[in-house]
Formats: sequence, structure tokens, C-alpha cells
Amino acid sequence: MRVIVIGKGAREHALAWGISRSPLVDRLFVAPGNPGMRDVAEVLPVDIRDLDVLRRVVRDLGVEFVVIGPEDPIVQGVKEALEEGPVRVFSPTARVSFLEGSKVRAKQFMRKHGVPTASFQVVGRGDDLDEVVRRSTLPAVVKADGLAAGKGVTVAHTPVELRNVLEAYLLEGKFGEASRKVVVEEFLDGEEVSLFLLLDGKSLRHLGEARDYKRLLTGDRGPNTGGMGAFSPVPYVAPEVRAQIYEEVVFPTLEGLRQEGLTYTGVLYLGLMLTEEGPRVLEYNVRFGDPEAQVLIPRLDGDLLEAFLLAWEGRLEESDLRVAPDRAVVGVVLASEGYPENPHLGRPVVVRTLDDPQVHLFWAGIREEQDQWVTSGGRVVTVVAEGKTLEEARDRAYTHLSHVRFDGAQWRSDVAQNIPLQVME
Ligand code: AMP
Ligand code: GLY
Repeated sequence: MRVIVIGKGAREHALAWGISRSPLVDRLFVAPGNPGMRDVAEVLPVDIRDLDVLRRVVRDLGVEFVVIGPEDPIVQGVKEALEEGPVRVFSPTARVSFLEGSKVRAKQFMRKHGVPTASFQVVGRGDDLDEVVRRSTLPAVVKADGLAAGKGVTVAHTPVELRNVLEAYLLEGKFGEASRKVVVEEFLDGEEVSLFLLLDGKSLRHLGEARDYKRLLTGDRGPNTGGMGAFSPVPYVAPEVRAQIYEEVVFPTLEGLRQEGLTYTGVLYLGLMLTEEGPRVLEYNVRFGDPEAQVLIPRLDGDLLEAFLLAWEGRLEESDLRVAPDRAVVGVVLASEGYPENPHLGRPVVVRTLDDPQVHLFWAGIREEQDQWVTSGGRVVTVVAEGKTLEEARDRAYTHLSHVRFDGAQWRSDVAQNIPLQVME
């Protein structure tokens, strides 16, 4: 079968790597991809925002199955547009993508269906901001309603700060249309974890938990980023904690979708805060995380492509995809100097051949310039290592960081270090 993965980051490289191991694949493409993905796929550097281009690629190359990595094409209805032709697209529908595409609607969904989440208010341009500030408990978390490339969340600690954030979001249009409305919610204390599910509209498959590192610098300092590293499994998600998350969060979410008449097929990402009072949903995402996918996919045994195909058909029970219980995976991101505000690009990248089958380089921000790879984005590569334990995987990942070199590279040195063992006692 001919398959195409849509996207260009390390998440999509990990997806393509997982799919390439399936005996069902004849040819695997990725669009727009990056040159680092050539180890597993044919890279098609086309403009995927142009639907006509995408339709032509699918038709001319005889693609039968499309796997969408990032959220934008999902929210924009690329699945629906492509499925007008004879191709199957693995992705949730645009209709159900409000779970990620609108924080306001996602929160309203949670409230309506009893999914535990931070208490919140919805604020629009016409609202009295002084009154909103008076009603809020501090610190307060302000979230742009629409997609903001992971940058739409700000924590305000004082009334003045909250007022300024609200003005910037609502009145100065900091995130354009995406911040015409905002959610102002209670700040939650606890340990974060992300849980991933594969859904076929009727049944589910657990894809594992992961923890990512959003702050740029070691010790959780510096600005927020797309994610500087991740690990899986997450030791503080003990079996009884997972059972509680399923009981209190996962099942009410799926029941809510059922009651709304929404069929969800694809990967569902639950961003959770494990608080003293139990698990709370921070956000839903309608796709894999980046860098979470880079550590989750190498933990999966079985046929990833077949699982996606079976999910599309509503026959997920027949899939052999399983999380390997005795395999830990750690991923460390190498980012460009100046990331996230102002990454310096165009730096030559030198790669030393890998000698260890338990190490993977999943590439993101690189391009080719006269037969030489140069940096072309903030996050350049995720160096991923497997091991029997998190310690072993972490040591292997850090040992192999030196296989990729470019001037000004930044990384965190504490990925999978100092992990709490227990939360929510
Ligand atoms: P979101 O995009 O909603 O997941 O928010 C991005 C990040 O902001 C989360 O991963 C958390 O680290 C943080 N965050 C979001 N909501 C809250 C909250 N209510 N309390 C504390 N931290 C939060
Ligand atoms: N790592 C966070 C995300 O993918 O949204």
C-alpha cells in the first residue's frame, strides 16, 4: 500500500519511522517533510496548505492512506476534502476538532459532561474587564480560544498583570482571531502528564503516558517552548492512578462524545494535571504530541500502520498494537541558538553515523543547501534512546547527543532526571 504522512517535524518523522516498519507499506511518502526523513520515506517538499497540490500528489502517486500529524490540517478539514476522492485519511474530523481548536468549546464540553478540569470563565471583547479581574482567583491562567501554536497560555500573578494580559489578548489581538475570546481559569498545582489513546469510534487502545518539558532551560527555567524533551513511561502513573484517570477523565470524555453524537477516530491526547484532588484536564489535543510521539512510538510493539487502518475501519480490537511494558524511551531535543524567540538558522549540521539500534534521530528543522544539511527551524532534532529502564534510556540518549553538531545548539540536561515516583497519594 502507498501511504503518505502529512507534516514536517520530528513527530512526523517518528510516525513515518513507525509506519515504515509495517509489512503493509509498499511506498511511504512524507509531505512536506525534511531531508532527515529520507531514511524511512520519500520526501515531497510541496506546499501542503494548498489543497489542490495535496489532491494532485495523492492522485498522481496512487496514495491510498493518509496520516495527518499536526493539528492545523485537521481543524481546517483536510480529511474531509481529501476523502471526497478514493483515499482514506487517518485523522479526527474537523467537526470534533473543537476539542483542541476552541478552548472555550472544549471547556464547555468538559463542564457539561462532568470531566474534571480547572474552574473557568469565558471572557469576550464586550465584557467588563475590571469585573473579570475582581471575579478571578490569582494566579489565573489566560488561554486564547483558538489555535496559537502552543503559545496562547499566560499565567497572571497580580490583578494588574491579569488586566494587562486580558487587554493584550482581547483588545490588542495578540493572537488575532484566536484571541477574540479567552478562557480565564484557576491555576492548578500538581504534576503534569499526557495520556494518549487510539480511538476508532467504538473502542480504544491505550498508547501510553508521556511527560514533556515545556520550559527551555534545565531546572524548568526560561521561556515556554514547543517541548524540549520527553520520556515514557511515567513512573508516577501507577496502575491505580491510571485506573482513576480512566474512571474520572477518559470514560466521561468518551461518553460525552457519544452523547453529542460525535464519532472520534484517531489519536486523542489528554493533557492532565494530577492534583491533590485528583486528575484535571488541562487540554485536549486531537493528535500526537511533539516531542511525546518521539518517545511513545518506539515503545509500541505491533503494526502501527495496520492499527491506524483498523481504527479507520472501526475494527481496532483486531490490532496487535501494544505498549511494551519493559521498554523505556527518552527523547532530548536539540534546538537552535535563540529559540524560541528568534532562532538563528542556516547553521551547518554535522551528523555522525549511529551505531546503536536503540537510538533514533528524529529530524525537524533542517533543510538541504548544496548537499549539506543546515538548520531551518527552532527545534532541529530529537535524539531518542530506548532502554530497559528510564535511567538506561536517558544515559544512552545523552551519550548520543554528540552525534549531531551545529553551532549554538541548546538542550536541557535534566530530561528524565529527578522524576517524582508518586503523586495524588
Ligand atoms: P494548555 O495549552 O492548555 O495545555 O496549556 C499549556 C501549559 O500551560 C500546560 O501544559 C501547563 O503547563 C500550563 N497550564 C495550563 N493550564 C493550567 C492551569 N490551569 N494551571 C496550571 N498550569 C496550567
Ligand atoms: N508537546 C506539546 C504538544 O505537542 O502540544
